Amino acid sequence: MKYAAPPYMNDVLPYPPSKDGWLHTALWRYVETVFRDTCRRYGYREIRTPILEQTELFKRSIGEETDIVSKEMFTFTDRGNRSLTLKPEGTAPTVRACLEHKLFAEHPVLKLYYVGQNFRYERGQKGRYRQHQQLGVEVFGASDPAIDAEVILLAMEFYRELGVVDQELHINSVGTAASRPAYREALRDYVRPFLAEMSEEGQGRFEANPLRMLDTKDENDLRLLAAAPRLVDFLDDESRTHFETLQAYLTAAGVPYIIDHRLVRGFDYYSKTCFEIIGTKLGSQNALGGGGRYDGLVEECGGPSTPGIGFGLGIERCLLVLDALGITPPLEDERPLAFLVTLGDAAQVRPAAVKLLAELRAAGIAADMDYRSRKFGQQAKRADELGARYLLVLGEGELERGVVGLRNQATKDQTDVPLGEVISQLQHLAV
Ligand code: HAM
Repeated sequence: MKYAAPPYMNDVLPYPPSKDGWLHTALWRYVETVFRDTCRRYGYREIRTPILEQTELFKRSIGEETDIVSKEMFTFTDRGNRSLTLKPEGTAPTVRACLEHKLFAEHPVLKLYYVGQNFRYERGQKGRYRQHQQLGVEVFGASDPAIDAEVILLAMEFYRELGVVDQELHINSVGTAASRPAYREALRDYVRPFLAEMSEEGQGRFEANPLRMLDTKDENDLRLLAAAPRLVDFLDDESRTHFETLQAYLTAAGVPYIIDHRLVRGFDYYSKTCFEIIGTKLGSQNALGGGGRYDGLVEECGGPSTPGIGFGLGIERCLLVLDALGITPPLEDERPLAFLVTLGDAAQVRPAAVKLLAELRAAGIAADMDYRSRKFGQQAKRADELGARYLLVLGEGELERGVVGLRNQATKDQTDVPLGEVISQLQHLAV
């Protein structure tokens, strides 16, 4: 084959592929519909932003030292000599769009959701792709921990709707920008004596972004970090109260959670609440979704001081979990209700067939025909392949009599129906 999709980017196909059956558009649409409906019930409105942004936006918001900005962005210079980047996430573009369109000024509390493609030049593997799709929400203007709880509950409700019930909710608090330096130093002091024993990655993070040392899968690093100081012990009073109140709300709502002291997330913009939803059936790429509070981000991007919180859920991982759990969602029926087959002199019959087909479709009936001018048996076979429930038979005889043959494909019973009544009969049969 001459061409292939770029590495670790997926085609999503109109028929379920035999391998990786989750790459089926009907499944994706189903999950998106459940997400949109959940957001609607929670009072969130949709935002869509371009697939590209100025590179500087991501550097500024996500942070120069993060893995995403330092090694994973798809960045290029356009013909006007601007540096643009395919968006690696949806939070910063949402902030940028709200600022640009003055939404913060007009809506003191803004509750938004998005369904968007993201690009990260990562080492690909199952569940980790260079293009992935996120279902995300962002809320601006509310600092009450009740909104932190709402955002988490929305995510959990979405999974419940899908039938995914094996996930774990991990929460932590990373405090405020003011309280973090003390923790950073305490962590460095703890690691310094055995720094040389740490993995190359851990050593690299020691200076540049020490909190990220905690986010490791390296067995030896994990062993060395087992007794590391904990973020929660360094929180300022406000962050501690916020975290405790969130826990009380989650308990009241009956949502179990695990306090994960190593949960720090890979973005510089977080403050206070951080959370991740872990799929226990997912192997190494087990984060179904993650998010947190980012109270300083709007200001960092040049706007007024505005608290914010949100999450992003990867649709690919969501579908992999459905697959692993053997959940087969109810998919939209894409089969035609009726399939029109023609008999006899094409010059006479085909114009009437084209007209009838257009009328059926205009009346809301899913209908199709064979475009290869073949024998009756071959046309009928095509109807079976497509899973049509009814065959409409139109020949010279039927045309003369002003009828069409209506055949039930399950029982093979066939009756003549006056042309003027076909639509109403099929509409009746569709329900
Ligand atoms: P994130 O944790 O980087 O957060 O991504 C959110 C989710 O997207 C992950 O939990 C995972 O399910 C999915 N995901 C991320 N990278 C990949 C990948 N390479 N392949 C497949 N799935 C992936 C954010 O992006 C934040 N903007 C979330 C947020 C919104 N925080 C506040 N508001």
